[in-house]
Amino acid sequence: MVLPGDQARLYRPRPELLPAAHVPSLPHYQRLYQRSVEEPHEFWGDIAKEFYWKRQHTGPFLKYNFDVTKGKIFIEWMKGATTNICYNLLDRNVNDKKLGDKVAFYWEGNEPGDYTKITYSELLQKVCQFANVLRSQGVKKGDRVSIYLPMILELVIAMLACARIGALHSVVFAGFSADSLCERILDCGCSLLITADAFYRGDKLVNLKQIADEAIRKCKDKGCSLKKCIVVKHLGREEIAVDGTSSKSPPLKRLCQDVQAPWNPAMDMWWHELMGGASKECEPEWCDAEDELFILYTSGSTGKPKGVLHTVGGYMIFAATSFKYVFDYQPEDVYWCTADIGWITGHSYLTYGPLANGATSVLFEGVPTYPDVGRMWSIIDKYKVTKFYTAPTAIRLLMKYGEEPVKKYSRKSLKVLGTVGEPINPEAWLWYYRVVGEERCPIVDTFWQTETGGHMLTPLPAATPMKPGSATFPFFGVVPAILSESGEELEGEAEGYLVFKQPWPGIMRTLYGKHQQFETVYFKKFPGYYVTGDGCRRDKDGYYWITGRIDDMLNVSGHLLSTAEVESALLEHEAVAEAAVVSHPHPLKGECLYCFVTLREGHEFTKNLTDELKKQVREKIGPIATPDYIQYAPSLPKTRSGKITRRILRKIAKNDQDLGDISTLADPGIIKQLFNSRCDTKQ
Ligand code: PRX
Repeated sequence: MVLPGDQARLYRPRPELLPAAHVPSLPHYQRLYQRSVEEPHEFWGDIAKEFYWKRQHTGPFLKYNFDVTKGKIFIEWMKGATTNICYNLLDRNVNDKKLGDKVAFYWEGNEPGDYTKITYSELLQKVCQFANVLRSQGVKKGDRVSIYLPMILELVIAMLACARIGALHSVVFAGFSADSLCERILDCGCSLLITADAFYRGDKLVNLKQIADEAIRKCKDKGCSLKKCIVVKHLGREEIAVDGTSSKSPPLKRLCQDVQAPWNPAMDMWWHELMGGASKECEPEWCDAEDELFILYTSGSTGKPKGVLHTVGGYMIFAATSFKYVFDYQPEDVYWCTADIGWITGHSYLTYGPLANGATSVLFEGVPTYPDVGRMWSIIDKYKVTKFYTAPTAIRLLMKYGEEPVKKYSRKSLKVLGTVGEPINPEAWLWYYRVVGEERCPIVDTFWQTETGGHMLTPLPAATPMKPGSATFPFFGVVPAILSESGEELEGEAEGYLVFKQPWPGIMRTLYGKHQQFETVYFKKFPGYYVTGDGCRRDKDGYYWITGRIDDMLNVSGHLLSTAEVESALLEHEAVAEAAVVSHPHPLKGECLYCFVTLREGHEFTKNLTDELKKQVREKIGPIATPDYIQYAPSLPKTRSGKITRRILRKIAKNDQDLGDISTLADPGIIKQLFNSRCDTKQ
């Protein structure tokens, strides 16, 4: 229950964090921040010196144009300098920092009991071997390689091997369908695909190679250039050895069963066979700071995924620096980010950021509820995790089962908690803070996007007094503004469009092969600004509160409302486990609120409850926000990354059966049930 005052209260960092912290106070943050935005060249220039450059930069540190009315949009950081990001993540840590024997990843399989680890020098060796494999298959600098793998070590190895030889990786989340994979392969025009035989997600077997083959067939019909497919024997392996040699790790329980992956001898090759003969030495490709590093697809409002492109130098320093400060990284940390590497969080904060800092991370293959709902907490105790980063959707899911499964485990190693991906409602924030972190661990609520490459608005754990549900203040180098519909910058307390005024090193450089779309989507609405597409409120203390996507904003009788704030009000009711609110056409008000709610165990959906919920929202936000419709939902349609698809809920509310592409949904079966139990909107 959120008590009045809980939200208004400031949650301050605990004193024990302060002595070792990189940023131990708010004034300290303010000084660093000021320098980062007033003297970006010097600020980032000093940070860049910590990395290895084959050729130092000589020209201007930053050149850009953010204003479409003045010509082409471009952003260049340190152009002319040359480096290799893989060299900085691995060779520099092994050779210069002497971290060769440090564990880079503890790998925890889906099945408890399946686990292994890899040190920095082992990782370097395997990356070099696989980079040589890629070169022997004809992959060169600038080529694209699609990677469709579960959360296994080979995924990190494949990404870093691409980076080592200057090829661009395009990681496609292993939960995506054949159609989605095909669309992404075609868009980037890759010549090689890396996949695996199969994997388990909870107790569900996913025959990945079969799906990949279907995607390849679909691509061939469309005349695609894909020639080769490298397949990791994951379920088929007897021991977790990523190079085909034996390892000292325990034999894998679930993995010992061989699935018969379909095989096409004309293009398929086993990963372990290719690795067996590959040399362990591999000279990196020296790349310009502005050379392309990777493409990652993110959904667009048109329904077609957008290929967000990041480059080598800026992304490297931004991912590394944000990781260091936002998680207050310390050398003895064991860090765990639960995101899948198929999303940007897994790129920046499971791969590039932690490795650039020489960190030890947990890489988890499974799901939070398998074999039971205590799995996350058991992993935290097993590896003595100190910094833990997850999504509000996971927190709300686990909240449903109460405190007992959490309290079964000690969690005493935890120091900092993090969240990302969507606004976190204060009730979930407080549960995370009180139950998981025992009021000892600050929560970094990090707002950012695939396009931004790294954190934009976030607390720093030992410096920022927190407010539950607020992403607080800008990270170094980030200059936010809130604009009105007419593009006017709003000062002080205000609500409107969240934009950024000047480039930070991690900003995307273009949409792959679609520069014009890049300019239109992000720079056209308000010339001179990068437009996030999110709504945002700044309170009287200058704290930023993300109110949800602008497309999730609605206008009820001329009042701008965000669906997120109504959801948050509903979630504060003890009966509600999850809520999703969409706008619905209304003859008098223009738009009204249509709400979907899932309930906690032991609660029933009754007329009485509906009345209580309406009252709750009215009391929390005001009469204008009173929902017109509340529908019971056994569960909500979500993407495989856990995001609620409000686009589909809007159609259900309108009884519009023309749903478009639903291939990215985790459980399409729920849609029919929701159509059948719609509220009558004709009254
Ligand atoms: O709406 C914001 C929401 O997620 C969007 C970006 O999604 P994606 O590119 O998939 O990246 C997710 C991981 C960085 C944003 O436009 N979002 C992300 N983090 C937060 C958030 N909304 C509120 N609070 C956050 N902490």
